[in-house]
Amino acid sequence: MLQRVVRSTIIDAPIERVWAVIRDFNSHDQWHAVVDTSRIERGEKSDQVGCVRNFTLKDGNHIREQLLTLDDHHWKSTYCIVEATVPLQRYVATVTLKPVTDGNRTFWHWESTFATPPGMERELTDMVAQGVYEAGFENLRKHLREGGDLRAPGSTRDAAMVALPRALPVASRRVVVKRYGGPEQMQLEDADCPAPGPGEVRIRQRAVGVNFIDIYQRRGWIPAMLAEGGTPGMEAAGSVLDCGEGVHGFLEGDRVAYLGPVPGSYCHVRNVPADWVVRLPPAVEDETAAALLLKGLTAEVLVHDLAQLDRRGGTRGGPGARLLVHAAAGGVGLLVCAWARKLGATVIGTVSSDAKARLAREYGCEHVIVLGERGYRFADAVKQATGGSGADVLIDGLGEAARDENLAALARRGHWISLGNATGALAQVDTHALLAKSITFSRPVVFDYVATRGELERRATRLWAALADGTLKLPPVERHSLAGAAEAHARLERRATSGALVLLA
Ligand SMILES: NC(=O)c1ccc[n+]([C@@H]2O[C@H](COP(=O)([O-])OP(=O)(O)OC[C@H]3O[C@@H](n4cnc5c(N)ncnc54)[C@H](OP(=O)(O)O)[C@@H]3O)[C@@H](O)[C@H]2O)c1
Repeated sequence: MLQRVVRSTIIDAPIERVWAVIRDFNSHDQWHAVVDTSRIERGEKSDQVGCVRNFTLKDGNHIREQLLTLDDHHWKSTYCIVEATVPLQRYVATVTLKPVTDGNRTFWHWESTFATPPGMERELTDMVAQGVYEAGFENLRKHLREGGDLRAPGSTRDAAMVALPRALPVASRRVVVKRYGGPEQMQLEDADCPAPGPGEVRIRQRAVGVNFIDIYQRRGWIPAMLAEGGTPGMEAAGSVLDCGEGVHGFLEGDRVAYLGPVPGSYCHVRNVPADWVVRLPPAVEDETAAALLLKGLTAEVLVHDLAQLDRRGGTRGGPGARLLVHAAAGGVGLLVCAWARKLGATVIGTVSSDAKARLAREYGCEHVIVLGERGYRFADAVKQATGGSGADVLIDGLGEAARDENLAALARRGHWISLGNATGALAQVDTHALLAKSITFSRPVVFDYVATRGELERRATRLWAALADGTLKLPPVERHSLAGAAEAHARLERRATSGALVLLA
């Protein structure tokens, strides 16, 4: 009679990670503690169906096993023993993985059937169940924790990572705003980063995204967000050093990026809630992620959720909408131009120089208005570009100085998205002014659109896909060191930059 052993477990790692190890039929001497040495016979590849692995166990036994099937689509492989010094007869085993979407983990099912000499049934089924399968689950977990899949093709792990002792503070440096004011108020100082608390991920940052909101914070415009002595910055990219209690889906060495509503990213090492963090695809480098994550997700929310450029017959934009974008050559601006154009909008942008105008055109802005000496005067030009009717949707990062022109530039039933305040905080909006043309108004904050891990992952996936399929072109990226944060701010606020800025940590 055939014996049957079935065991399963959950591995706290994404399926690609686990499968990269399992599908290599000759990897088990690296992760399974009972295996001593292993080689594939006849020099065949270790993922070739039919190949034979020839291995010795630490107890001196010797086994030859053949790979029978390997299904990358369903994460499944089957193998059998062809010769062994242990008395397992007609042994056929199957390993199947399934993704667990909650926390991005992996379900691993391992089962086999075999015959045994009479009287050895119990001993051999226990040996397979515990000594091989259950021990294997634990050994693979340990192997992944220690960074053992670095050689996996397509791995998103950082090969330069070294496992750190857990629960120790790590030396870091951070930028602090000594007093609210100009860029010179920012200074770099030493500061240890403590061990991650429950639900937190500790990240060794490599690139930090600079956003206009960092300037508002430094100036003291949003004291509830950043107090004097605090560290600005809402996003960064790097590698996971370690995770606090209860964190699922991240391992040491994972390449990740994050954005979140609490500042503090201008530093080398930081703890952040795991819910803010996404793993990076191999094709997205740290610097690209830091340049794109917050700005790209903002652009995604703007074109899809707020302007609704992808919704035919919608109440807002829809394909063919006339979209007015201020600071069209800026970090968010270029991404919006490219994405909106791809969705069929007519994009009208304002910029402050001819060089920025050229860049905005390159990214899909059809009508560019150079503000120059005129200050924030653009409504007539917008009317002209739209055959007299005005813009259907306005993306306004300028704020107060553009208020009246914005109202004049909007079409009847136009939608005004007040995104930011580069010229000063927008004072209260007079509802009578909106009433005159049935204008609708929204004041979105990107963090509210990525408030759950699921939504963050869904939107980030859409962002990386847009980059990969050419919908988005990476904007020019201006690099500064963390110590050069003041220079980065000074250039951003005197309108000297185009595209995105990052601080290399
Ligand atoms: N609500 C949200 O969730 C959210 C998220 C991301 C960004 N934002 C907002 O979106 C806007 C763009 O952000 P960003 O980080 O991508 O910055 P950015 O557009 O790269 O830089 C700001 C641009 O604003 C223009 N500008 C016009 N008047 C200015 C002035 N008086 N001072 C400084 N700049 C002025 C400049 O472009 P020109 O020289 O071409 O005029 C400047 O390059 C900001 O208002 C920001 O606060 C909001």
